[in-house]
Amino acid sequence: MTSSDLAAVFDASSSYFAKVTPQVWGPAGQSLVFALRLQPGDTVLDVCCGAGASALPAAAAVGPTGRVHAIDLADDLLEEGRLIASDRALQNIDFVHADVTTWEPPSSVPDAGYAALASSFGVFFLPHMDAAVSRLLRLVRPGGGFGVTVWRSGALDRFAAAYYEVIGRHQANSATGTPVPPTRHVETPKEAAERIDNPEKLAAWLTDLGAASVAVTVLSNLIPATEQFAWDLVLGSGFRAPLDQMNDDTVVAVRSDFLELITDRGIHTVDATALVGTGVITGWRGGED
Ligand SMILES: C[S@@+](CC[C@H](N)C(=O)[O-])C[C@H]1O[C@@H](n2cnc3c(N)ncnc32)[C@H](O)[C@@H]1O
Repeated sequence: MTSSDLAAVFDASSSYFAKVTPQVWGPAGQSLVFALRLQPGDTVLDVCCGAGASALPAAAAVGPTGRVHAIDLADDLLEEGRLIASDRALQNIDFVHADVTTWEPPSSVPDAGYAALASSFGVFFLPHMDAAVSRLLRLVRPGGGFGVTVWRSGALDRFAAAYYEVIGRHQANSATGTPVPPTRHVETPKEAAERIDNPEKLAAWLTDLGAASVAVTVLSNLIPATEQFAWDLVLGSGFRAPLDQMNDDTVVAVRSDFLELITDRGIHTVDATALVGTGVITGWRGGED
């Protein structure tokens, strides 16, 4: 998926994104900010910020003498973040539309660098994840913080399996038979996420990137799988990507089949358990992929 495809998916998700924020994105983003132990006056870089699940609490943590640069590809989510910042009278946060793999920091960043780099459920979307994150870590001052949230192994698995089974059925029905040309394999977000999906793997990854004093916390989050929540989660996340290629009638059918299947399979909760991993940057590593 190209960066403009990703932007389109997350732009389309924006109104549903907010609906699942209290249960999914919000608690993880807030936990990440607490774990980073930000101080008043800090300048923070938040990448793949979406509507600000971690960037907004970061702005509150660093206060009016600090600043948060929050970067994302999805314009509609950024606009949502700007509205929330305005509602909360937070004037120290800039929501910037850019691809973080090519974005360059503004000259207002302190010479020594950012006090912290944060990304909640974002790094695994970056093509060549390690190289992309290494590049961003060079913008963090020595002794600065680095923190991410990611899904724990098994999180969303049963939910995703049921969903993609239904998607597969409907795609098979409407397949055009157009052959897809072979392309060089680039690690997918799923493959990248699987490299850092338990505390040991995440700690090793943070250490390899040059972090010391690494800590990983498990945030258990088992959300009742009501019909409303299940479908809002599909529409308010990357799950929606295949739906954006379908006509309205097919989307209605997918919704109905999916909700029936999760009932049949006895999926009463959605496991949205996350890991919060943090470390202190003592020096950056190469990050070849
Ligand atoms: C699952 S959302 C998480 C958003 C937010 N951090 C949160 O926890 O609510 C992932 C976000 O990564 C953004 N993203 C993916 N690739 C990106 C890139 N190359 N540059 C900037 N943003 C990117 C998407 O647009 C999306 O908003």
